[in-house]
Amino acid sequence: MKLSVIGCGYLGAVHAASMVELGHDVVGIDVDPEKIEMLNSGNAPFFEPGLPEILRSALASGRLRFTTEISEARGAGAHFIGVGTPQKKGEYAADLTYVDSAIDSLIPYLADGDLVVGKSTVPVGTAERLAKIIAAGSGAILAWNPEFLREGFAVKDTIEPDRLVYGVPAGNDGIRATEILNRIYSRAIANETPLVVTDYATAELVKVSANAFLATKISFINAMAEIADATGADVTQLADAIGFDARIGRRFLNAGVGFGGGCLPKDIRAFTARAEELGRGESVAFLKQVDAINLRQRDRVVQMVVDALGGNVYEKKVAVLGLAFKPFSDDIRDSPALDVAVRLHGLGANVVATDPEAIANSRKLHPQIVFADDSVDALVNADVIVVVTEWNEFRALVPGDVSKLTAGRVIIDGRNCLDPESWRAAGWTYRGLGRP
Ligand code: UGA
Repeated sequence: MKLSVIGCGYLGAVHAASMVELGHDVVGIDVDPEKIEMLNSGNAPFFEPGLPEILRSALASGRLRFTTEISEARGAGAHFIGVGTPQKKGEYAADLTYVDSAIDSLIPYLADGDLVVGKSTVPVGTAERLAKIIAAGSGAILAWNPEFLREGFAVKDTIEPDRLVYGVPAGNDGIRATEILNRIYSRAIANETPLVVTDYATAELVKVSANAFLATKISFINAMAEIADATGADVTQLADAIGFDARIGRRFLNAGVGFGGGCLPKDIRAFTARAEELGRGESVAFLKQVDAINLRQRDRVVQMVVDALGGNVYEKKVAVLGLAFKPFSDDIRDSPALDVAVRLHGLGANVVATDPEAIANSRKLHPQIVFADDSVDALVNADVIVVVTEWNEFRALVPGDVSKLTAGRVIIDGRNCLDPESWRAAGWTYRGLGRP
């Protein structure tokens, strides 16, 4: 099929290239000329494993191109909306400006029977509102098809999704929308990927509730880590033990400095804001606790560093290992790791931070921090080390080798990703979150 993808950020760029991989002919559209130029030359504007490869092969096939011209969406049978829905400035609600303007600018180029497919994460009720605008301005149909990809695994998650959700209108339009989406995702359908066909509101809610559930799971284990710290229990063993219960499951039970990124934090806030608008604020009020527990972990990690340095970090060298909100990503949006680095710098520490992928983005936002290109430079003469993103190269540090570089012998494991025994055996003071 001929497809257009509007918005070429983390979601849209991956979606555009992946749809070519699935056999379609795609035009990717974005208002940012620099991004479009990069994509057209086969370079991903952000770090995402596997994206450059599929981008280049898609461009070489002649079935993918990128443009800033929305008029080039004309002729595509389905148009994916993958623009951002960030947190509003000064409010917790989602900012829908980009979604609204994408729809407005697309309408003149829609033909009768075209399908507009919303992929952006939006507050429940948005699709119904947009469907009316689309119907008033064209003969196109709207479907809401939330995206569940994880950064770092975005290509795989898009090509082989673990489930498909279609929010479609009632009646014949809904049948037609489902048929078009089944054609687009024919490979996943043939592979018997679970499919839920539902109404708009359910599809929108599936997305935000999935992220709210994941955020809750992380904050739950971080709350247990706080209790473990107060009692001498070990949260890692606790997570293993409760995780063996198939109803609970071990994934997303890693305690540490908490969740960040462009999705979980802003999605739970937008969800509470929307619930309040609906007069149901109390239903999801617990998400405010989830948020608060999460943010507290950053305070705890900063405090652990301060304590390790005897109560005063001034002029002490702190090696901060990690800046990205998680490994296999250069994304620093709401990153707990970057936040810890910035706060320690603010307390007067001599922070030297490093990350395999996220230095360039971090430097743009926080030029006051000193960045080291590799962990050796960051570690030299450090008084304390704090690990805040669990990249493999930090996990693989050999305590005996690190001892030759640093001035101090304290390591704060803000991701509970290191082996305490091996560090202690090499003469280090090891501290994790909720680990004795
Ligand atoms: C998240 C969801 O996992 C995706 O399903 C969803 O599609 C995406 O948001 C989105 O809405 O677009 P992502 O933001 O890429 O994906 O990151 P996650 O893998 O969910 O990790 C989020 C944060 O939680 C990271 O900072 C990570 O370090 C942290 N985390 C994760 C923990 O602190 N503990 C864990 O056990 C797991």
